[in-house]
Amino acid sequence: MRKINVIPLPNKITYLGGETETAAPETSVCESLGEEEYILTVDKDGTKLAGGSEKALFYGMQTLRQLGKSCPCIRIEDKPAFPYRGFMLDTVRHIFSIEDTKKLIDAAASVKMNVMHWHLTDDQGFRFFSSRRTDATKKGSVREKSNFGKLKESGSYGGYFTPEEMKEIVDYCAERYITVIPEFDIPGHTSAMLHAYPHLSCTGGPIDIKTCQGIFDDILCAGKDETFETVFDILSDIIEIFPSEYIHIGGDEAPKKRWKNCPDCQKRIADEGLKNEEELQGWFTNKVVEFLESNGRKSVVWNESLRSGLVKNSLVQMWMDRKKDSVAYANKGGKIIVSDFFHYYCDYPYGMTPLAKTYNFDPILKGIKNSNSVVGVEAPIWTEYINNFDRLCFMCFPRFTAVAETGWTEKQNKNVGDFCRRFEKYSDILSEIGITPSPASEWNPSPLKRLKIISFLLGLLDRE
Ligand code: ACM
Ligand code: ZN
Repeated sequence: MRKINVIPLPNKITYLGGETETAAPETSVCESLGEEEYILTVDKDGTKLAGGSEKALFYGMQTLRQLGKSCPCIRIEDKPAFPYRGFMLDTVRHIFSIEDTKKLIDAAASVKMNVMHWHLTDDQGFRFFSSRRTDATKKGSVREKSNFGKLKESGSYGGYFTPEEMKEIVDYCAERYITVIPEFDIPGHTSAMLHAYPHLSCTGGPIDIKTCQGIFDDILCAGKDETFETVFDILSDIIEIFPSEYIHIGGDEAPKKRWKNCPDCQKRIADEGLKNEEELQGWFTNKVVEFLESNGRKSVVWNESLRSGLVKNSLVQMWMDRKKDSVAYANKGGKIIVSDFFHYYCDYPYGMTPLAKTYNFDPILKGIKNSNSVVGVEAPIWTEYINNFDRLCFMCFPRFTAVAETGWTEKQNKNVGDFCRRFEKYSDILSEIGITPSPASEWNPSPLKRLKIISFLLGLLDRE
């Protein structure tokens, strides 16, 4: 019997015998089904789709689209394993156009992803147009050159997204039941913002927009009140453009070197009765979280934000967490999203992260006591080494699709070989969208081929 080729694989499939043509479905919203749950029947009596909401009907339609013009007679009862199924796009290190971003959104929607995390600010550029703080964008969005390991580009590089463009993406996503979560990464990864506002650094600057990858010492000064006035203004602009319940405020890779030597930061530590600079980051984060909450929004933070032990009410995105702060946070009642560096980071070569490794990763991390504390999965693509859309697609596909399947399909229904079989057919949809995935020969390289990773890592060290 012919099996269906749908990605993500539906959780309950009953083959009714025989084959039939698919048709535009008779649809109904059914209150007894969950918000993302649908039932699709295709048989000799026609095509019927019931869903718990319009969103669920949209998901049923994605399944139907993948069934093609004819399929086995079938009843599919389906709902997701996790409520949060996302991808992250870094448009700082390299910019991706609105048109290309829409292609990624179409691909994400076709596999029932529901979050686009948009990384908009970092050391190498400030790509969010802030109406209240125009210098952040005007002065912070153009770097002199690009020098990312082997990828060196002479000449200035820059640009930003206007409010209209960002709203266009928000609307495009909303039509596909995808929420855009914008990221304003603070207090670290802020060289571009500090280039515009050097007085918000601990030293007073000047500070350059960075032209290479890395972690940089100059971060927002937590001792100066003006830092918060500026951050809140930028967040107010973000809130006006993005209607999402959650706003991502970063918190990753914030070195404490400047804070240790800054009289303002040290005064803050003393005045607030904090133990050290790590606690100062916790205090900083809580102040921003409170601002968001007073505006009816919630926060997402990278896992380093937990190091102080002071952050309590944020959704935590785990990416690299040797100390297992995220697991401890989850076990105390917190919620986490899993974007594990070694499995879900799509910017690393298949030699380092073969597709099977991504696909088979279980986001219920070791030590988690209640699986409900893991709300979902997200596949990030960082773009230091990716300066064109074809390369981006090569790195992200099929990986985004594999993470989408982990987000939707229950663990016991997953199988990597079957996924690869289904992906071959699914790639017709990607080509309709305008996306070329990497060829199957790349996905799971032999150990010998994986040695290529060494040359890649050496390339990383090949800085100016
Ligand atoms: C990260 O990769 N620095 C979140
Ligand atoms: Zn300071």
